[in-house]
Amino acid sequence: MKISVLGTGDVGRSIAEGFARAGHTVTIAGRSPENEEITRYIADCGLSGTLRYADFCAAAGKGEIVVLCVSGAYAVSVAETVREFVHEKIVIDVTNPLEFPDGSTLRLSVANDDSLSEQIQRALPSAYVVKSLNTVNSHVMTHPKEIGDNHLMFVAGNSEKARSAVRSLLADSFGWQDIVDLGDLTGARAMESHLHLWLHLWRHLGHARFNIALVTEAND
Ligand SMILES: NC(=O)c1ccc[n+]([C@@H]2O[C@H](COP(=O)([O-])OP(=O)(O)OC[C@H]3O[C@@H](n4cnc5c(N)ncnc54)[C@H](OP(=O)(O)O)[C@@H]3O)[C@@H](O)[C@H]2O)c1
Repeated sequence: MKISVLGTGDVGRSIAEGFARAGHTVTIAGRSPENEEITRYIADCGLSGTLRYADFCAAAGKGEIVVLCVSGAYAVSVAETVREFVHEKIVIDVTNPLEFPDGSTLRLSVANDDSLSEQIQRALPSAYVVKSLNTVNSHVMTHPKEIGDNHLMFVAGNSEKARSAVRSLLADSFGWQDIVDLGDLTGARAMESHLHLWLHLWRHLGHARFNIALVTEAND
């Protein structure tokens, strides 16, 4: 499958490399048409055959599925930039609306009765936005088995078919086993708000390679 990853930070690199190693043809993208650092990174990974660099629009046009993983502050403007290239495509939104007004206290730039994912969906009315992967660190996103078997990933999005396709993609490409379907895109409000808890757990543990599991009363 052709997958385009919009974002060249830790998340973009981890997801692009993960999908390329899983056998997909991947384009990783940033603002500029060329990026020497990423080109070197691709060569160092030994992935020049399956992973390429392009700018946001060129990449979005190539991908059958597009992953949005740019800084939360610019996610809606990047979505608007690529709007004409993602018509009827699945857009996996990994962004978080994080702000640190005093340098350390987290504030979500949107919350409660809206979410960054819903803003992105409004910017991309003909795409199928699915929120996922934003609740864990970039390495855990693509290596879930390194920290255990039964910890949780979520999907939320307005198209059931798109949510199902993303669950299969994450299971087949990265090995996610426990993917909870939260239903429509209002579920993204909960997923983005999880960052408050994530940040406190990170400070408590002193590292980012962790996740949460769901324990319930048995159904039978
Ligand atoms: N880091 C994590 O472990 C983690 C975990 C979960 C979710 N997230 C979320 O994933 C997203 C990516 O995080 P990250 O840590 O990989 O990197 P990041 O530093 O938040 O974002 C890097 C990307 O943002 C783009 N960008 C920066 N300024 C821009 C602007 N003015 N206009 C358009 N694009 C701009 C950069 O473009 P260029 O390539 O052109 O420089 C780059 O591709 C964020 O929303 C973050 O909250 C991160």
